[in-house]
Amino acid sequence: MNDPQKAPVQLSFSDKYTDEHSRQYFEKHHRKKLSDRLEHRMAERALRLAGKPASVLDLPCGTGRFWSLLAADPKRELLAADLSAAMLDVTAQVREPSVVSRFRLLQCSAFDISLPDQSVDCIFSIRLMHHIGEAVNRLAMLKEFHRVSRDTVVLSLWVDGNYKAWRRRRLDAKRRQQGERSDNRFIVSRTQFESECLAAGFEILGHVDFLPRLFMWRTYVLRKKAALPGDR
Ligand SMILES: C[S@@+](CC[C@H](N)C(=O)[O-])C[C@H]1O[C@@H](n2cnc3c(N)ncnc32)[C@H](O)[C@@H]1O
Repeated sequence: MNDPQKAPVQLSFSDKYTDEHSRQYFEKHHRKKLSDRLEHRMAERALRLAGKPASVLDLPCGTGRFWSLLAADPKRELLAADLSAAMLDVTAQVREPSVVSRFRLLQCSAFDISLPDQSVDCIFSIRLMHHIGEAVNRLAMLKEFHRVSRDTVVLSLWVDGNYKAWRRRRLDAKRRQQGERSDNRFIVSRTQFESECLAAGFEILGHVDFLPRLFMWRTYVLRKKAALPGDR
């Protein structure tokens, strides 16, 4: 936990979640009712696949979009973390007080979670991994999730093998030709990401697609592989 030996991974996109941006993020998703509903359905199915975990860390929680869903189980122990203090503040203001009071809040990086090993049954991580363009950073985050989870990880990202990814790649190529900068969102090949999960010590229990073959969003459900004798 907060290992001083570990060089912190810092991503440029992380700096944009100021107070104003946090409010805009809340408003934007509040308006997008249909896609928000579909994303909740995807998350609900993924949590079922994960075996309806009894304790969940929502990381990054953003403005708490999934808090009502996570709190629907009255016995579930709930934690939520985000790097941005502004996001955590806005969340506490915009969500139902009875829901907010169920969560223990932490301000920390997903690369260095301020919790001891094996603290929760499940880490629930929606819309963070698609911001991580480098394999070495994805692996670092997966390893940190492996340390803090006792059992599963539910995680969404953008994958290839669908119409939107094909279109996005064409758009990215055009942007590069015109010398435009990346918007810090990346598509990862499914086979590559799955091999990164295995390398971090997970097996893949399954996945749920937002809209199969059409959209890029996929939610993976990972389970920690059983340690072999001699593993450290
Ligand atoms: C796109 S939002 C997603 C939030 C939420 N899961 C959702 O789906 O609404 C990305 C969030 O990641 C947080 N964030 C950025 N870098 C982070 C990091 N290194 N560790 C933890 N959270 C981070 C931001 O503050 C922001 O709240």
